[in-house]
Amino acid sequence: MKISKKAAGIAPSLTLALTAKAKAMRAEGIDVISFGAGEPDFDTPDFVKNVAIEDLKAGVTKYTPVPGTPELREAIVEALDRDYGLKYEVAETLVSVGGKHTLFNIFFVLLDEGDEVVIPSPFWLSYPEQVKACGGKPVIVTCPPEAGFKLSPAQLREAITPKTRAVILNSPSNPTGAVYTKEELLALADVLKEFPEVTIISDDLYQKLVYDGAEFNSLATLVPEFRNRIIIVNGLSKAYSMTGWRLGWCAAPASFIKAMSALQGQSTSNPVSFTQRAAAVALRSDHGFLDSWLKAFDGRRRLIVEGLNSLKGVKCDPAPKGAFYAFPDVSDTYGMEIGGKKITDSMTFAEAFLEVANVSVVPGVAFGEDRCVRLSYATSESNIEKGLARLAKYLK
Ligand SMILES: Cc1ncc(COP(=O)(O)O)c(C=O)c1O
Repeated sequence: MKISKKAAGIAPSLTLALTAKAKAMRAEGIDVISFGAGEPDFDTPDFVKNVAIEDLKAGVTKYTPVPGTPELREAIVEALDRDYGLKYEVAETLVSVGGKHTLFNIFFVLLDEGDEVVIPSPFWLSYPEQVKACGGKPVIVTCPPEAGFKLSPAQLREAITPKTRAVILNSPSNPTGAVYTKEELLALADVLKEFPEVTIISDDLYQKLVYDGAEFNSLATLVPEFRNRIIIVNGLSKAYSMTGWRLGWCAAPASFIKAMSALQGQSTSNPVSFTQRAAAVALRSDHGFLDSWLKAFDGRRRLIVEGLNSLKGVKCDPAPKGAFYAFPDVSDTYGMEIGGKKITDSMTFAEAFLEVANVSVVPGVAFGEDRCVRLSYATSESNIEKGLARLAKYLK
C-alpha cells in the first residue's frame, strides 16, 4: 500500500523504541537498569485518581465539549493566573490529548507548506517530526554544552528568515535539564521584538520541576506585549505524574484556539471525559505532593551528576537544573571498545551499554546532539547507584 511522502518522512520515536527493547530484555529475565523513562516514577496522587474513579462510576463516560469541559478550562485560567500572573479567558484555552497532541494541533494550525520553525538543539525529539508532518521546515540551531545548551540572541537573529513562522522555547528542557534565566529570556525577547510576525511557542511542561535555586520563567510573563504572539503549552503529565492520562493544554489568542478546536473536533474530539474533573482538582490543589517529589528528584539529580562526572570519558557539565534528565557528553568514549562492541557515536554507546552492561540510556542523536546521551533519573537512588556502577565497570 502506498505511504504518503508526509508520513514516510516521519521518524519513529527512538525513545519509545529503546524503552520497548529494554522492556523486552526484562521480560526475558535480564536485570536491565533503565535510565530511559520520560515520565516520573511516582504514582498519580490518590486524591486525583479518586475523582476519576467517582466520575467513571457516576457515568461521566460520554462526549464532552471539544476544547475541554468549562470546569477544567476554568481551572487552567486559574493556573495561568497563579503560576504565570496572567489573566486569560476560558476561550483562550484548549485541552488536548497530552502535550504532544497540543503541539501537533499548534503546528497544524500555524504552518503552511515550507514555513520555518526555529528549534534550538538539543530538542525534544517530537518537535522536528511534528513540524515536518505539518508541512513545515525545522530550522535546527545547535546549542552545545559549552553554551549551557541554550540559544543565544545572536543565533536566534541569524536563524530567522522571512519564512520563519515560529520559534520553540522549552525551559526546563527535555533532554538537557537546562533552565533559562530571566536575563537570558529577556535578551532573546529583544531579538523577537524585531520580528513581530514570529510566533513564540513556550513549552512549559516541566515548569514545576526546578532545583538548586533555579527559577521557572516564561516570556509570556516577562514580556506582556507578547500576549498576542505567544502560545503557552503545558500539561498534567510531568508535574502530576499523569502521563498515561493524556492531558495537555495551551493558552493562546482566542482566534487561534478556535482554529485548533475546529481541527481537534475533526480529529480526536474532546479529551477523555472522566479525566477532566480530576485534572481540574489536580490543578487547583495545594500541590503539597510535589514537595517530596522535588526533594527526591533533587537528591537523585545530585547523585547522578556526581556519579557521571566521576566516570572516565563522561562530562555532565552544565549540570541539569530542571526536569528529570541528565545529558552528559560521552564523546570521549568514542573509539573505545566494550565487551567486543566498538563505540563510535551516541547510538552505538546506547546499544553497547544495553547489551553488555544491561543499562539503558537514550542516544543524544535523537535529540540533535550526538556527543551526548540522556539518562532519566526518574528512578530510585539504588537503581541509579547500580546503573552507575555498571557503567563504571566498563569506563575505567
Ligand atoms: C518537552 C516536552 N514537551 C511535551 C511533551 C509531551 O508530553 P505529553 O506526555 O503530555 O504528551 C513532553 C513529553 O515527554 C516533553 O518532554
